[in-house]
Amino acid sequence: MAKLVAGNFKMNKTKKEAEDYCAELLTLLGKGYNNFLICPPYTLIECVKRSLNGRGAVGAQNVALAESGAYTGEISAKMLKDVGADSCLIGHSERRHIYGETNDDIAKKLNLVQKEGLKTILCVGETLEEHRRLKSVLESQLSVLNDKDLTNIIVAYEPVWAIGTGKVATSDDIIKAHTIIKKYVKDKFNSEISILYGGSVKPENISEILALGVVDGVLVGGASLDAKKMAQMIKSAK
Ligand code: PGA
Repeated sequence: MAKLVAGNFKMNKTKKEAEDYCAELLTLLGKGYNNFLICPPYTLIECVKRSLNGRGAVGAQNVALAESGAYTGEISAKMLKDVGADSCLIGHSERRHIYGETNDDIAKKLNLVQKEGLKTILCVGETLEEHRRLKSVLESQLSVLNDKDLTNIIVAYEPVWAIGTGKVATSDDIIKAHTIIKKYVKDKFNSEISILYGGSVKPENISEILALGVVDGVLVGGASLDAKKMAQMIKSAK
């Protein structure tokens, strides 16, 4: 089965750049590849959705902590759905570390996104300093899943020290973390969950990462901004 390649544009691209990107991506892919998700900035969700012409899926990178009201500058889950988002990243490490998002915030966001029926990609991962406590750090981040229906949720394991640094986690690191996550979900829910790996994924290393049995797809930042690299990665994941 094809594995998912999710691209996180972070705070990059204008409307024209996004339209050109989607057109180039679709041309490079030709027919038959739908195993991808693009998470552009809020301002481009509608544009990317339209430009992809029914191919792949579109997601947001974040969501507000409330359903509506006096929250200047925020965007709700309902608004994301309204402009065509299929899914939403929650708890990306940049949200946790730059904006101080806590597990409590992430649990609330998860509820709001689920209520709108959007697919959720819950991002978890340890800092270098937390690496020796990997199991307890991941389990605490995963605790936001407790009492949730997992049908519409996937997890992305992204070691913070591998994001945007060019340092990819070793196969052993990835297997270890993904096994902890799978066991947590099995023990708590008696069920399974898809897990993406993220952190300096690029065309040169994607095949090796996806060949690890425990990896169901990838979440890509930097390399996803280039349509040629994105197309190459989507094809390798088929
Ligand atoms: P990167 O980012 O691929 O640039 O390391 C990954 C991410 O932040 O999701």
